[in-house]
Amino acid sequence: MILRDAHTVSLWQDYAGGYNVINRADPQQTYDVIIAGGGITGITTAFLLQNAGKNCLLIEAANLGYGTTGGTTAHLNTLVDVPYNTIQQHFGKEGARQVKEATAEAIQLIQHHIDRFDIRCGFEYADAYLFAQTEKEEAALKDTAEAMLLAGLDVSGAATIPVPFSFRKAVKVTGQAKFSPLPYIQRMAAAFEHIGGTILQQCRVTAVQDNDPMLIVTTLGAFRCRQFVYATHIPPGVNLLHLRCVPYRSYVLAATLADNNYPEDLSYDMQQPFHYYRTQVMDGQPYLIAGGEDHKTGHQENTEACFRKLEAHLREAFNIEDIRYRWSAQYYEPADGLPYIGRLPGQTGEIYVATGFGGNGMVYGTAAALLLKRLMLGLHSEYVKLFDPSRIKPIAGFNTFVPHNADVIKQLASRLLPAEKLEQLAGLAPGEGKLVSYEGSKIALYKDEQGALHAVDPICTHLGCEVHWNQAEKSWDCPCHGARYGIDGQVLNAPTSRNLDPHDIG
Ligand code: FES
Repeated sequence: MILRDAHTVSLWQDYAGGYNVINRADPQQTYDVIIAGGGITGITTAFLLQNAGKNCLLIEAANLGYGTTGGTTAHLNTLVDVPYNTIQQHFGKEGARQVKEATAEAIQLIQHHIDRFDIRCGFEYADAYLFAQTEKEEAALKDTAEAMLLAGLDVSGAATIPVPFSFRKAVKVTGQAKFSPLPYIQRMAAAFEHIGGTILQQCRVTAVQDNDPMLIVTTLGAFRCRQFVYATHIPPGVNLLHLRCVPYRSYVLAATLADNNYPEDLSYDMQQPFHYYRTQVMDGQPYLIAGGEDHKTGHQENTEACFRKLEAHLREAFNIEDIRYRWSAQYYEPADGLPYIGRLPGQTGEIYVATGFGGNGMVYGTAAALLLKRLMLGLHSEYVKLFDPSRIKPIAGFNTFVPHNADVIKQLASRLLPAEKLEQLAGLAPGEGKLVSYEGSKIALYKDEQGALHAVDPICTHLGCEVHWNQAEKSWDCPCHGARYGIDGQVLNAPTSRNLDPHDIG
């Protein structure tokens, strides 16, 4: 089993063995491209560039698939989470059409790789069903369906849906797909190395010196390159993109069913937040994979309750035999609904970024690799402007965006103020963490199952917000830009690369 940035174990993670690298990195040579991040975005980008003649080094802070690629539910869809009427409103009819084209091209590329390298990852084309259960949702579905048709998706009314929920209206969208993500990325990583690429695992990029060539400082030494890519889900450091991407967490269960009535295809309700359902067969065993209960990172006091709510929701409709896996994962919601892919704003060197994929990381990560390849090779792409990280929209963005920034301000300000509420060490149960007041300072305190205390400074090393305890994942999560830390303060997720400061406890 590979490791993931979480305490819970995902279905994919449990079925995956580790990846053993083939080639050795050479600190003496100047690479054409260095890519940070060993998820689907980084690996696909690395493969496409190496295949086009570049000499690439991919650097992963932990193991391949450690981040959200190991925690996704791997829906491959052109029916993206942001409704097409919203995309159309922000980016025009042509922009919505381009989103459909870019995501369809990404699915085709994944299928092409699977065929070319004979990857056994359970890839299947599927239809997607979007269903409304209330009058209000029905009106929203009508608007969304009209916009999808205009954008070129194949949409039609559906009299039935694959999941056993009552509904008022539903539409079917063809041309979607599903797969198991880790066999795919591991095989693509091997394909990358077989054509001369190099991978470094357990190596964190700690600094990028923007010279020519650029110097990429890592925990395993420094490497030089001409072009650099942050495929790290969100770039580290402090950047405008941190104000344009809001971190969320989503909850997933993988269950076996007593009646074997596993739903075919992909299904989505229209609740806020919405639920998503599909089936994947792993080594002959089918699993219902269902997710939802999303919330902004660090904003849910009781993360265990998210799993309980999701389970209760599923048990209402499905004949659940056993909940085999439960996990949560992080995603970044972009302010105006589309990812940011291209040159990193504010940098003079050739530094590229891909972030803000929302809940569509597998398709947007692949679309990002295609776009980055074209950009970095100086080729034409019609999507450059659409996904440009420097774009400034005249709109304020989603309504979740402004509160997010207000939240940043609140969190930064709270550092300057005395703690509003004192919490005592007493009352901390084994396996529990909380912020407590200790000799006038706040500390992030965790008591492990053996009763030992682990204490760290709760001030996020990115921009100084105060981290919150995530009981389900046993992590300290930053509500501002989504950095996450383990119980001893070790970094689990960017945008920071520095651990929380530990406290000694006498
Ligand atoms: Fe930015 Fe914590 S992630 S302040």
